[in-house]
Amino acid sequence: MKLWGGRFTKETNQLVHNFNESLSFDQKFYRQDIRGSIAHVTMLARQGILSEQDKVDIIRGLESIQKDLDSGALTISPDSGYEDIHSFVEGTLTERVGEAGKRLHTGRSRNDQVALDMKLYTRDEIQEMDGLLRDLLEELLAVMEANLDTFMPGFTHLQKAQPITLAHHMGAYFEMFSRDRSRLHDIRERMNYCPLGSGALAGTTYPLDRAYTAKLLDFYGPTLNSMDSVADRDYLLELLSALSIIAMHLSRFCEEIIIWNTNEYRFVEIDDSYSTGSSIMPQKKNPDIAELIRGKSGRVYGALVSLLTTMKGLPLAYNKDMQEDKELAFDAIDTVKGCLLLFTGMISSMTFRKDVMEASAKKGFTNATDAADYLVNRGVPFRDAHGIVGQLVLTCIGKGIALDDLPLEQYRAISPVFDEDVYEAISMKTCVEKRTTVGAPGHAAMRDVIAQYRKQLEQ
Ligand code: ARG
Repeated sequence: MKLWGGRFTKETNQLVHNFNESLSFDQKFYRQDIRGSIAHVTMLARQGILSEQDKVDIIRGLESIQKDLDSGALTISPDSGYEDIHSFVEGTLTERVGEAGKRLHTGRSRNDQVALDMKLYTRDEIQEMDGLLRDLLEELLAVMEANLDTFMPGFTHLQKAQPITLAHHMGAYFEMFSRDRSRLHDIRERMNYCPLGSGALAGTTYPLDRAYTAKLLDFYGPTLNSMDSVADRDYLLELLSALSIIAMHLSRFCEEIIIWNTNEYRFVEIDDSYSTGSSIMPQKKNPDIAELIRGKSGRVYGALVSLLTTMKGLPLAYNKDMQEDKELAFDAIDTVKGCLLLFTGMISSMTFRKDVMEASAKKGFTNATDAADYLVNRGVPFRDAHGIVGQLVLTCIGKGIALDDLPLEQYRAISPVFDEDVYEAISMKTCVEKRTTVGAPGHAAMRDVIAQYRKQLEQ
């Protein structure tokens, strides 16, 4: 069962075994562990360190283990006595192919092995998360394309500010999630060097061809310092930061959806299939999924702070503390993947109430800046125009009406510069249409941006 019994005279205390073992969680990357071992023995045989026959036997054995774990014919029992996935695979291999199995670990340590497995796993998961982010971006783009002219209030301080469109609001999140994708991509680029062959910390005396192993495993090349290779968890910290930012973006978006979904706003209605009810209040339909996604940001941030803390005092090179990286990274990855999947489903099944959004934009004086700009265009200094429109807003608040509904005499009573064309100038359509600078909500500007987003997604 053990990879290291020789120098010990006593059995391991059971509690020590339970505390020390990682099999219960590192079995998550058995596929990556096997993939790494196949590359390792392929290189060993090519270098003449292992016989061709041993290589063939080992690979056959490893492939059969993978097949049986995949199908469930072989299971990893928590009380198998194995310490970790590395001993489980090696032990099972030796049971299956005999002597050759015992040669698998030539020129390798669990330190470089686990460093490799974790990198392979991270790389695979980054690819999956990239796909999930892409699906979300597709969904957002579809909403954008359909809502170039859906007016809604834009907010600052959660107070209605200026009119925008639903497409523009969704576009803000499109930007955020695109940057998240690019951050994951950057991490992959930086980490994509193979640690295998670094041994326990000081390399090995066997004539390994590290460049060849790296190539077999689709890395850009081997890592260049064996101590760093077994002690580096930077890429996981980067990953956890990127995941924290994704979780934060999702959380902000969920917060908005929760607000928009209230009876007070009614901008959206989350679909029944993505809502839950109350055991006591028959009328309730709650946005639990949005709340859970918002809430789960906490555990993702937790993983980041936890691993930063674990790493901060570790002397070079490998220390067992680093085993803590696994559950933290696994949990954060699985959490974010789940959130992305559920979030995309929630958005794609959600109803956007365009009429309510538009009515809300009209009600909240979101065109007040445009009324001031109207005066400026007719020669009034902006500061004076600001004051004049402020007075008009006050009058409207007193009457409970919008600027659009205030009679022209009342406009003129405060400033004779106003004319009949003010109504056209402050209409929702004009307010948005006139905003045509790059990045603004105007139809033409948004259409160009959407075309760029489309291209970006097709790449
Ligand atoms: N389970 C260990 C980890 O996750 C594997 C490496 C063990 N190495 C050692 N020298 N004990 O870090």
